[in-house]
Amino acid sequence: MSWWWAGAIGAAKKKLDGDESHSKEKHESVGLVIGVTGIVGNSLAEILPLPDTPGGPWKVYGVARRPRPSWNADHPVEYIQCDVSDAQDTLAKLSPLTDVTHIFYVTWADRGNESANCEINGAMFHNVLRAVIPNAPNLQHICLQTGTKHYLGAFEDLISGTARPHDPPFDDDLPRLPTPNFYYTLEDILLEEVEKKDSLTWSVLRPGVIFGFSPFSLMNIIGTLCVYAAICKHEGKPLRFPGTRSAWDLYAEASDADLIAEHHIWASVDPYAKNEAFNCVNGDVFKWKHLWKALAEQFGMDCPSEYEEGVPSFAELMKGKGPVWDEIVKEHELLPTKLEDVGLWWFADVTLRVQESFLSSMNKSKEHGFVGFRNSTKSFVSWIDKMKAFKLVP
Ligand SMILES: NC(=O)c1ccc[n+]([C@@H]2O[C@H](COP(=O)([O-])OP(=O)(O)OC[C@H]3O[C@@H](n4cnc5c(N)ncnc54)[C@H](OP(=O)(O)O)[C@@H]3O)[C@@H](O)[C@H]2O)c1
Repeated sequence: MSWWWAGAIGAAKKKLDGDESHSKEKHESVGLVIGVTGIVGNSLAEILPLPDTPGGPWKVYGVARRPRPSWNADHPVEYIQCDVSDAQDTLAKLSPLTDVTHIFYVTWADRGNESANCEINGAMFHNVLRAVIPNAPNLQHICLQTGTKHYLGAFEDLISGTARPHDPPFDDDLPRLPTPNFYYTLEDILLEEVEKKDSLTWSVLRPGVIFGFSPFSLMNIIGTLCVYAAICKHEGKPLRFPGTRSAWDLYAEASDADLIAEHHIWASVDPYAKNEAFNCVNGDVFKWKHLWKALAEQFGMDCPSEYEEGVPSFAELMKGKGPVWDEIVKEHELLPTKLEDVGLWWFADVTLRVQESFLSSMNKSKEHGFVGFRNSTKSFVSWIDKMKAFKLVP
């Protein structure tokens, strides 16, 4: 497949606006997105139904627990409210989807420690695969999203400082670390389940920190930074950088949610990509001090010109700010959100308190034919624009 398609997404999105004819088309592929309102799920919901998407025309089912939110409702997706941690609910709602050809698994649950994470995430994935594989005779491919923690270790190890990551840049085929990791549990289940059906293929995608849009995401760095900036501005405080000097100065990388969606689709339909794990990052590097300046500009604030020592963590700075956020939401007539859902301070602290550059290699993807990329600075700004356009931040 030639990769002209990635650049055509903007035009295709416009073409789809107001065009209802896609819903009457004969579908070539049927995608089931588990976690359709998440940070990558929302991009898949937008991109899969576009007229030019490889493997299409696509019919798309999307699964999440909460009622469908307004910011996801325009995508031509059959929305299914289902809790995949509940085996009965999953069997009842997903086994009737007999036309599914591709599963995109872009969800997870956080239980606070890795052995509990292995248990719950393993159970969720099992529930989905056991409901769909025996009942969807045309199922061809399962695309699982994990992440760079495959090479870094679990959050609890990163936070406690006991992680012993691989030496970056991370190559896709590095061996597993000798510590519990729910990503390994998911991969094991994937390989075990695809064995049960002839000709069923799989992919694993491993993004780094994701730049995207979803107020329902458990980890959304851009949303969190926007909320932080909005609170600082509202209180007349400067936009202090609560990260380490290393994070301010070192090369960092990110994964754009639309790029990840394109990568999922490529991995699902290109025969040369089957049965492989791929890193999935933008393909450039940036420094947080430069993105901090971009963040300040987007919120009409001054950016510190030098690194400031001794700034407390996000979690400390933002303690007790729930009522301030409620005030901001009311004053600017924003979409109602609670601070605990959109200000994910623990995740911002993990992301901006690194001591090292953790970079992934994209060589394997490129050698297999995926040459998609994003300019991380432009990606950062465009997702902030989307946060504002959907009235999630002022
Ligand atoms: N976000 C990042 O920056 C990042 C970076 C690297 C790797 N990753 C990895 O990417 C994978 C996917 O995470 P993500 O960040 O893309 O997801 P996410 O943004 O947190 O989205 C989760 C989605 O799954 C749904 N969901 C959660 N629990 C569910 C359940 N029990 N049943 C049905 N739906 C459920 C959520 O909606 P409801 O809550 O309404 O159900 C939401 O639509 C994870 O393995 C994660 O570790 C993420």
